[in-house]
Amino acid sequence: MALIETQNLRYIYGKGTPFEKVALHGADISINEGEFIGVIGHTGSGKSTLVQLLNGLLKPESGKILLNGVDIWAKPKEIRKVRFAVGLVFQYPEYQLFEETVYKDIAFGPTNKGIHNKDELDAVVRRAAEFAGLKESLLEKSPFDLSGGEKRRAAIAGVIAMEPKVLILDEPTAGLDPKGRDRILNQIKKYREQTGSTVLLVSHSMEDIARVADRVLVMNHGNVEMFDTTENVFKQGEHLAEIGLKVPQVTQVFLELKKLGADVDTGVYTMEQAKAAALAYLRGAGTEGGNA
Ligand SMILES: Nc1ncnc2c1ncn2[C@@H]1O[C@H](COP(=O)(O)OP(=O)(O)O)[C@@H](O)[C@H]1O
Ligand SMILES: [Mg+2]
Repeated sequence: MALIETQNLRYIYGKGTPFEKVALHGADISINEGEFIGVIGHTGSGKSTLVQLLNGLLKPESGKILLNGVDIWAKPKEIRKVRFAVGLVFQYPEYQLFEETVYKDIAFGPTNKGIHNKDELDAVVRRAAEFAGLKESLLEKSPFDLSGGEKRRAAIAGVIAMEPKVLILDEPTAGLDPKGRDRILNQIKKYREQTGSTVLLVSHSMEDIARVADRVLVMNHGNVEMFDTTENVFKQGEHLAEIGLKVPQVTQVFLELKKLGADVDTGVYTMEQAKAAALAYLRGAGTEGGNA
Protein backbone atom coordinates (compact mmCIF):
# COMPACT_ATOMS: atom_id res chain seq x y z
CA MET A 1 0.00 0.00 0.00
CA ALA A 2 1.17 3.48 -0.82
CA LEU A 3 2.05 5.78 2.06
CA ILE A 4 0.30 8.73 0.43
CA GLU A 5 -2.24 8.52 -2.32
CA THR A 6 -4.40 11.20 -3.86
CA GLN A 7 -7.55 10.45 -5.77
CA ASN A 8 -8.90 13.02 -8.21
CA LEU A 9 -7.69 15.76 -5.89
CA ARG A 10 -9.09 19.19 -6.78
CA TYR A 11 -8.57 22.62 -5.27
CA ILE A 12 -10.10 25.99 -6.09
CA TYR A 13 -9.08 29.36 -4.65
CA GLY A 14 -11.79 31.99 -4.16
CA LYS A 15 -14.64 29.76 -5.22
CA GLY A 16 -17.68 31.69 -6.34
CA THR A 17 -15.78 35.00 -6.47
CA PRO A 18 -14.62 36.82 -9.61
CA PHE A 19 -11.10 35.64 -8.68
CA GLU A 20 -11.97 31.96 -8.76
CA LYS A 21 -8.95 29.92 -9.73
CA VAL A 22 -8.73 26.16 -10.14
CA ALA A 23 -5.25 25.47 -8.79
CA LEU A 24 -5.44 21.68 -8.97
CA HIS A 25 -7.62 19.95 -11.54
CA GLY A 26 -7.79 16.40 -10.19
CA ALA A 27 -4.47 14.89 -9.23
CA ASP A 28 -3.87 11.16 -8.86
CA ILE A 29 -0.51 10.43 -7.34
CA SER A 30 0.91 7.69 -5.21
CA ILE A 31 4.02 7.86 -3.04
CA ASN A 32 5.68 4.95 -1.27
CA GLU A 33 7.30 4.94 2.11
CA GLY A 34 10.94 6.02 2.03
CA GLU A 35 10.83 7.59 -1.42
CA PHE A 36 12.54 10.87 -2.18
CA ILE A 37 10.25 12.78 -4.51
CA GLY A 38 11.25 15.92 -6.39
CA VAL A 39 8.43 18.29 -7.33
CA ILE A 40 8.98 20.69 -10.22
CA GLY A 41 6.81 22.95 -12.37
CA HIS A 42 6.64 26.57 -13.48
CA THR A 43 5.49 29.26 -11.05
CA GLY A 44 1.76 28.96 -10.48
CA SER A 45 1.61 25.33 -11.63
CA GLY A 46 0.12 24.20 -8.31
CA LYS A 47 3.11 22.84 -6.39
CA SER A 48 2.50 24.76 -3.16
CA THR A 49 -1.23 24.07 -3.33
CA LEU A 50 -0.57 20.35 -3.69
CA VAL A 51 1.83 20.13 -0.76
CA GLN A 52 -0.48 22.16 1.48
CA LEU A 53 -3.28 19.73 0.63
CA LEU A 54 -1.04 16.78 1.48
CA ASN A 55 -0.46 18.02 5.02
CA GLY A 56 -4.04 19.05 5.63
CA LEU A 57 -3.43 22.80 5.64
CA LEU A 58 -5.85 23.22 2.76
CA LYS A 59 -9.06 21.24 2.40
CA PRO A 60 -9.80 19.74 -1.01
CA GLU A 61 -12.69 20.98 -3.10
CA SER A 62 -13.21 17.35 -4.03
CA GLY A 63 -11.23 14.15 -4.18
CA LYS A 64 -9.25 12.45 -1.47
CA ILE A 65 -5.89 12.25 0.21
CA LEU A 66 -5.15 8.88 1.76
CA LEU A 67 -2.42 8.51 4.35
CA ASN A 68 -1.69 4.85 4.98
CA GLY A 69 -4.96 4.13 3.23
CA VAL A 70 -7.01 6.41 5.49
CA ASP A 71 -8.82 9.50 4.18
CA ILE A 72 -7.19 12.38 6.10
CA TRP A 73 -10.47 14.34 6.14
CA ALA A 74 -12.57 11.43 7.36
CA LYS A 75 -12.36 12.95 10.86
CA PRO A 76 -11.79 16.69 10.36
CA LYS A 77 -11.26 17.19 14.10
CA GLU A 78 -8.17 15.02 13.90
CA ILE A 79 -6.53 16.89 11.05
CA ARG A 80 -3.87 18.15 13.47
CA LYS A 81 -2.50 14.63 13.66
CA VAL A 82 -1.96 14.71 9.92
CA ARG A 83 0.09 17.88 10.28
CA PHE A 84 2.37 16.08 12.72
CA ALA A 85 2.72 13.06 10.44
CA VAL A 86 3.23 15.09 7.27
CA GLY A 87 5.54 17.98 8.17
CA LEU A 88 5.60 20.93 5.81
CA VAL A 89 8.34 23.55 5.63
CA PHE A 90 6.59 26.51 3.99
CA GLN A 91 7.82 28.27 0.90
CA TYR A 92 8.21 31.43 3.00
CA PRO A 93 9.76 30.40 6.34
CA GLU A 94 8.84 33.80 7.83
CA TYR A 95 5.26 32.50 8.03
CA GLN A 96 6.41 29.61 10.15
CA LEU A 97 8.48 31.46 12.76
CA PHE A 98 6.64 33.41 15.39
CA GLU A 99 8.08 32.73 18.85
CA GLU A 100 10.46 34.99 20.79
CA THR A 101 13.40 32.64 20.38
CA VAL A 102 14.45 30.05 17.87
CA TYR A 103 14.49 27.50 20.68
CA LYS A 104 10.82 28.13 21.49
CA ASP A 105 9.96 27.97 17.83
CA ILE A 106 11.53 24.55 17.44
CA ALA A 107 9.93 23.38 20.71
CA PHE A 108 6.45 24.49 19.62
CA GLY A 109 5.60 21.46 17.46
CA PRO A 110 6.84 18.74 19.83
CA THR A 111 5.15 20.49 22.77
CA ASN A 112 1.86 20.45 20.90
CA LYS A 113 2.44 16.86 20.04
CA GLY A 114 2.56 16.12 23.75
CA ILE A 115 6.21 16.20 24.79
CA HIS A 116 6.19 18.14 28.06
CA ASN A 117 9.14 16.66 29.92
CA LYS A 118 11.76 19.41 29.87
CA ASP A 119 14.80 17.20 29.32
CA GLU A 120 13.10 15.15 26.64
CA LEU A 121 11.95 18.30 24.90
CA ASP A 122 15.43 19.78 25.13
CA ALA A 123 16.93 16.69 23.53
CA VAL A 124 14.38 16.80 20.70
CA VAL A 125 15.03 20.51 20.06
CA ARG A 126 18.80 20.15 20.01
CA ARG A 127 18.71 17.08 17.79
CA ALA A 128 16.40 18.81 15.32
CA ALA A 129 18.63 21.91 15.30
CA GLU A 130 21.62 19.71 14.58
CA PHE A 131 19.81 17.88 11.77
CA ALA A 132 18.95 21.22 10.22
CA GLY A 133 22.53 22.45 10.58
CA LEU A 134 21.56 25.24 12.94
CA LYS A 135 24.30 26.44 15.28
CA GLU A 136 23.52 26.07 19.00
CA SER A 137 24.43 29.70 19.58
CA LEU A 138 21.42 30.73 17.47
CA LEU A 139 18.86 28.94 19.65
CA GLU A 140 18.44 31.83 22.06
CA LYS A 141 18.20 34.46 19.34
CA SER A 142 14.99 35.93 17.98
CA PRO A 143 14.05 34.27 14.67
CA PHE A 144 13.74 37.75 13.22
CA ASP A 145 17.45 38.42 13.78
CA LEU A 146 18.51 35.45 11.65
CA SER A 147 19.81 35.56 8.08
CA GLY A 148 17.70 34.13 5.25
CA GLY A 149 19.56 30.82 5.33
CA GLU A 150 19.35 30.57 9.11
CA LYS A 151 15.60 31.24 9.02
CA ARG A 152 15.17 28.34 6.62
CA ARG A 153 17.18 26.13 8.92
CA ALA A 154 15.12 27.19 11.92
CA ALA A 155 11.89 26.45 10.03
CA ILE A 156 13.27 23.07 8.92
CA ALA A 157 14.33 22.27 12.50
CA GLY A 158 10.83 23.15 13.77
CA VAL A 159 9.26 20.66 11.38
CA ILE A 160 11.88 17.94 11.90
CA ALA A 161 11.35 18.27 15.67
CA MET A 162 7.86 16.81 15.19
CA GLU A 163 9.52 13.72 13.72
CA PRO A 164 7.13 13.57 10.78
CA LYS A 165 6.83 10.39 8.73
CA VAL A 166 6.82 12.55 5.65
CA LEU A 167 8.93 15.69 5.35
CA ILE A 168 7.85 18.18 2.71
CA LEU A 169 10.01 21.17 1.85
CA ASP A 170 8.58 23.86 -0.41
CA GLU A 171 11.50 25.56 -2.18
CA PRO A 172 13.79 25.47 0.86
CA THR A 173 16.78 26.80 -1.06
CA ALA A 174 15.13 29.61 -3.00
CA GLY A 175 16.92 32.92 -2.62
CA LEU A 176 20.04 31.42 -1.04
CA ASP A 177 23.54 31.64 -2.49
CA PRO A 178 24.97 28.42 -3.99
CA LYS A 179 26.87 27.62 -0.80
CA GLY A 180 23.79 28.03 1.38
CA ARG A 181 21.79 25.97 -1.10
CA ASP A 182 24.30 23.14 -1.04
CA ARG A 183 24.39 23.13 2.73
CA ILE A 184 20.64 22.83 3.12
CA LEU A 185 20.39 20.23 0.40
CA ASN A 186 23.14 18.11 1.97
CA GLN A 187 21.44 18.41 5.34
CA ILE A 188 18.16 17.16 3.87
CA LYS A 189 19.96 14.28 2.19
CA LYS A 190 21.67 13.35 5.44
CA TYR A 191 18.43 13.58 7.42
CA ARG A 192 16.74 11.30 4.94
CA GLU A 193 19.58 8.77 4.97
CA GLN A 194 19.63 8.65 8.77
CA THR A 195 15.89 8.48 9.38
CA GLY A 196 14.62 6.73 6.26
CA SER A 197 11.78 9.28 6.09
CA THR A 198 9.79 9.94 3.00
CA VAL A 199 10.74 13.33 1.57
CA LEU A 200 9.09 15.64 -0.95
CA LEU A 201 11.24 18.48 -2.18
CA VAL A 202 9.73 21.27 -4.25
CA SER A 203 12.46 23.08 -6.15
CA HIS A 204 13.17 25.33 -9.09
CA SER A 205 16.64 23.89 -9.38
CA MET A 206 16.85 20.93 -11.72
CA GLU A 207 20.39 20.34 -10.43
CA ASP A 208 19.12 19.96 -6.87
CA ILE A 209 16.33 17.63 -7.92
CA ALA A 210 18.72 15.56 -10.04
CA ARG A 211 21.02 15.12 -7.07
CA VAL A 212 18.49 13.81 -4.61
CA ALA A 213 15.23 12.58 -6.13
CA ASP A 214 14.26 8.98 -6.84
CA ARG A 215 11.19 10.12 -8.75
CA VAL A 216 10.08 13.48 -10.09
CA LEU A 217 6.57 14.88 -10.11
CA VAL A 218 6.11 17.49 -12.82
CA MET A 219 3.23 19.94 -12.39
CA ASN A 220 1.84 22.05 -15.22
CA HIS A 221 -1.13 24.43 -14.96
CA GLY A 222 -2.68 22.53 -12.06
CA ASN A 223 -2.21 19.13 -13.65
CA VAL A 224 0.23 16.30 -13.07
CA GLU A 225 2.19 16.38 -16.31
CA MET A 226 4.63 13.55 -15.53
CA PHE A 227 5.47 11.41 -12.53
CA ASP A 228 8.34 9.07 -13.23
CA THR A 229 11.90 8.16 -12.27
CA THR A 230 14.33 11.06 -12.29
CA GLU A 231 16.08 9.56 -15.30
CA ASN A 232 12.90 9.12 -17.32
CA VAL A 233 11.75 12.67 -16.56
CA PHE A 234 15.04 14.31 -17.48
CA LYS A 235 15.19 12.24 -20.66
CA GLN A 236 12.18 14.24 -21.82
CA GLY A 237 14.10 17.45 -22.50
CA GLU A 238 11.79 18.64 -25.24
CA HIS A 239 8.64 17.90 -23.31
CA LEU A 240 10.04 19.79 -20.30
CA ALA A 241 10.99 22.74 -22.51
CA GLU A 242 7.43 22.89 -23.85
CA ILE A 243 6.14 23.48 -20.34
CA GLY A 244 8.76 26.05 -19.49
CA LEU A 245 11.22 23.80 -17.66
CA LYS A 246 14.80 22.87 -18.25
CA VAL A 247 16.84 19.74 -17.84
CA PRO A 248 19.90 19.83 -15.56
CA GLN A 249 22.93 21.51 -17.16
CA VAL A 250 24.85 18.24 -17.49
CA THR A 251 21.92 16.68 -19.32
CA GLN A 252 21.89 19.70 -21.62
CA VAL A 253 25.56 19.14 -22.43
CA PHE A 254 24.89 15.51 -23.38
CA LEU A 255 21.89 16.46 -25.51
CA GLU A 256 24.14 18.96 -27.37
CA LEU A 257 26.84 16.31 -27.84
CA LYS A 258 24.24 13.98 -29.27
CA LYS A 259 23.14 16.71 -31.69
CA LEU A 260 26.75 17.07 -32.78
CA GLY A 261 26.72 13.41 -33.68
CA ALA A 262 28.35 11.81 -30.63
CA ASP A 263 26.73 8.56 -29.63
CA VAL A 264 26.41 9.38 -25.95
CA ASP A 265 23.85 8.36 -23.36
CA THR A 266 21.48 11.31 -22.88
CA GLY A 267 19.88 9.82 -19.75
CA VAL A 268 22.56 11.55 -17.71
CA TYR A 269 21.58 13.99 -14.97
CA THR A 270 24.27 13.98 -12.28
CA MET A 271 27.99 14.75 -12.43
CA GLU A 272 28.82 11.14 -11.47
CA GLN A 273 26.73 9.80 -14.33
CA ALA A 274 28.27 12.36 -16.65
CA LYS A 275 31.76 11.15 -15.80
CA ALA A 276 30.80 7.51 -16.36
CA ALA A 277 29.02 8.26 -19.63
CA ALA A 278 31.89 10.40 -20.94
CA LEU A 279 34.39 7.64 -20.12
CA ALA A 280 32.17 5.03 -21.73
CA TYR A 281 31.94 7.17 -24.82
CA LEU A 282 35.68 7.81 -24.99
CA ARG A 283 36.53 4.15 -24.50
CA GLY A 284 34.07 3.00 -27.09
CA ALA A 285 34.36 5.98 -29.47
CA GLY A 286 33.71 4.84 -32.97
CA THR A 287 31.91 1.66 -31.96
CA GLU A 288 28.12 1.57 -31.96
CA GLY A 289 26.62 2.02 -28.52
CA GLY A 290 30.16 2.14 -27.06
CA ASN A 291 29.32 0.77 -23.60
CA ALA A 292 32.75 0.08 -22.11
N1 LIG B 1 -4.12 32.38 -1.77
C1 LIG B 1 -4.39 32.33 -3.07
N2 LIG B 1 -5.48 32.97 -3.56
C2 LIG B 1 -5.79 32.91 -4.88
N3 LIG B 1 -5.07 32.24 -5.80
C3 LIG B 1 -3.99 31.60 -5.37
C4 LIG B 1 -3.58 31.61 -3.99
N4 LIG B 1 -2.47 30.89 -3.86
C5 LIG B 1 -2.17 30.43 -5.10
N5 LIG B 1 -3.08 30.86 -6.01
C6 LIG B 1 -3.12 30.54 -7.45
O1 LIG B 1 -3.18 29.14 -7.61
C7 LIG B 1 -2.31 28.70 -8.65
C8 LIG B 1 -1.32 27.71 -8.09
O2 LIG B 1 -0.48 28.38 -7.17
P1 LIG B 1 0.65 27.66 -6.35
O3 LIG B 1 0.12 26.38 -5.83
O4 LIG B 1 1.18 28.64 -5.37
O5 LIG B 1 1.74 27.36 -7.48
P2 LIG B 1 3.32 27.12 -7.39
O6 LIG B 1 3.66 26.77 -5.99
O7 LIG B 1 3.57 26.01 -8.35
O8 LIG B 1 3.97 28.39 -7.82
C9 LIG B 1 -1.67 29.96 -9.23
O9 LIG B 1 -2.42 30.37 -10.35
C10 LIG B 1 -1.80 30.96 -8.11
O10 LIG B 1 -1.88 32.27 -8.61
MG1 LIG C 1 4.99 27.63 -4.65
